[in-house]
Amino acid sequence: MESAQTPISPDQSLRNRMREFYETSEAYKGLLNQHNHAYLKSYVDLVDLHTPPDEYTLDLGCGNGISSKMLHDRGRNVVGVDISPLFLKETKKWENDSLKYRVGDALNLDFESGQFGVVCSNELIEHTPDVETTLLEMIRVTRKGGRIVVAGPNLCSPIMPLLDFVQMVFGGNGRPIWAETKQQALQNALKNTNLYFTKRFGQLPQFLYREPDLEDQIIGGDADSTYIASPIDLEKFFRQHSLRIKKLCVGFGFKGKIMATFFPRTSLYISMVAEK
Ligand SMILES: C[S@@+](CC[C@H](N)C(=O)[O-])C[C@H]1O[C@@H](n2cnc3c(N)ncnc32)[C@H](O)[C@@H]1O
Repeated sequence: MESAQTPISPDQSLRNRMREFYETSEAYKGLLNQHNHAYLKSYVDLVDLHTPPDEYTLDLGCGNGISSKMLHDRGRNVVGVDISPLFLKETKKWENDSLKYRVGDALNLDFESGQFGVVCSNELIEHTPDVETTLLEMIRVTRKGGRIVVAGPNLCSPIMPLLDFVQMVFGGNGRPIWAETKQQALQNALKNTNLYFTKRFGQLPQFLYREPDLEDQIIGGDADSTYIASPIDLEKFFRQHSLRIKKLCVGFGFKGKIMATFFPRTSLYISMVAEK
């Protein structure tokens, strides 16, 4: 079996293929239906608790737009941006003076520099074929003193495949792509442990990419991800660009918060807050 983490170098053709996938995939749009209020609550709470509410807020890669609406319902002036007009189709009816939606590419944002007090994203970063450009764009459109919040799966966590392994030992299912068999789960746990030490003690961020599955056969489990997301990369990148890390890992739920406190860089989810 080909490893889920075989590194590739993303190029323009991958960028085009990913754009086309998000622009046209009805199956993915269906999957995003599961991203409802309950699913998005942790992310919206994260933004709400760690950024000032009266700041103009950009919700980047907002998918079906519900998280932007939730942030707006909590009193914010919000713009939700996604590369897919298809996913944003239902959002027109929610628009008003302080809630707007726009089709846009995170790699080339159509906003002036320093326009936002808060720039946030949930489960976007692992889907971008050029993380450095995406982060630079997020930093560019954030005003000095403004905050950036990044949330999503930590695809470099060694703990996740170990949990998959234990689950399979007790008769449970594996995880598509990353831990389909016990052997693959152990291999990925080892690989991610190795990555942890390489990244942790390296000077610079090391963005690793994989070939995404864009076959429209949605098998879940981040099949369409291309960046093997790591909070250590993000932490190093933000520091390199003179941002302060306000929260390395906030954590979602009780167990998530314990993990975040003791193992912020190997926690299952990225929930980072940086200040420009
Ligand atoms: C896993 S979904 C997450 C959607 C939403 N943030 C949520 O949590 O429900 C990833 C989203 O990123 C969007 N996306 C991918 N690449 C993008 C890009 N370059 N610019 C803007 N949005 C992008 C996709 O269209 C998709 O809606």
